[in-house]
Amino acid sequence: MVKAAVLGASGGIGQPLSLLLAISPLVDELSLYDVVNTPGVGADLSHINSKANVTAFLPEGGEGLEKALTGCDIVVIPAGIPRKPGMTRDDLFKINAGIVRDLVTGVAKFCPKAFVLIISNPVNSTVPIAAEVLKKHDVFDATKLFGVTSLDVVRASTFVAAVVGGSPTDYKVPVVGGHSGETIVPLLSQITPKTEIPSDKLEALVKRIQFGGDEVVKAKDGTGSATLSMAYAGFKFAESLLRAVKGETLIIEPTYIFLEGVAGGQKIKDTVGGLDFFAVPVELGPSGAVRAINPLPQANDYEKALLEEAKKGLAGNIAKGTEFITPTS
Ligand code: NAD
Ligand code: LMR
Repeated sequence: MVKAAVLGASGGIGQPLSLLLAISPLVDELSLYDVVNTPGVGADLSHINSKANVTAFLPEGGEGLEKALTGCDIVVIPAGIPRKPGMTRDDLFKINAGIVRDLVTGVAKFCPKAFVLIISNPVNSTVPIAAEVLKKHDVFDATKLFGVTSLDVVRASTFVAAVVGGSPTDYKVPVVGGHSGETIVPLLSQITPKTEIPSDKLEALVKRIQFGGDEVVKAKDGTGSATLSMAYAGFKFAESLLRAVKGETLIIEPTYIFLEGVAGGQKIKDTVGGLDFFAVPVELGPSGAVRAINPLPQANDYEKALLEEAKKGLAGNIAKGTEFITPTS
């Protein structure tokens, strides 16, 4: 029996993500939580003739979160405000940091062994926040905490196909680092199957992958950021994890993880100047992250320069998240 929860279930991402989980044969129980509108979203989804039993909760003075989370195996968190044109993801920190802190505190109390998938931005900082909260409650397990960066990989294959032709589903592109602008590093020299990007198109393609989120924010013109593609990408990650839990092997997904808590991660940490968190492809298994895969040694000189930029941005983002929960002074 798998019980999944979506926290922020009434939002732009929350609703389509909840729909995908509700119709997934991998989910037996789906619990929806938000500060608004969950009764309606829950009633609507509960009419679908899929196997998942859908329940919905509002805060109810704290009891709602407890009811939503008790017994959960997997918790997906897209709660928080999205960007408007002109904002960076870091501009969301002020509001979203507290939201993620409070929701992950609920996870620590009511379902401490659950997998936690963080979508709320800025992911580079909200995942360190989640880790610190879980550590404070003595329930942190790095193999179960995932920053969802799969949208970068989804976009990368779409944008590569737009340049070289073929179907987006033909290409697998490793994207490492973090989830904002220059911290997103596509390793286009390692596309499978081997694919040459024309040199006159390379820089524009890298920029498009790094700033793909801005395209959507601009097109939505003040009404939000990516929701449908994110719901797809978030579901894809959750589905891979649940397939791994059920015993399927050799499942690899990109995700932003606490490096030293995952097999193979310490070596990557040493290569990225000691950063605690970094997105890399990770093999998933029944209990979460089995091992981090290191594509960095094969990076070419251009990609190594991109990685240097990413490292600078990430160091500050990670420290900001960690300090929010555990101030050093
Ligand atoms: P949205 O405003 O449409 O939905 C957010 C939902 O969170 C709302 O329903 C709101 O009521 C709810 N919420 C707010 N505070 C809450 C709380 N304390 N507890 C529970 N629910 C709460 O926004 P959206 O478009 O769905 O985006 C959500 C977040 O996801 C944003 O921070 C956005 O930047 C981020 N995002 C991340 C990625 C990624 O790749 N990781 C991609 C797209 C968006
Ligand atoms: C994205 O990459 O689409 C998300 O992080 C949302 C955003 O703010 O761009």
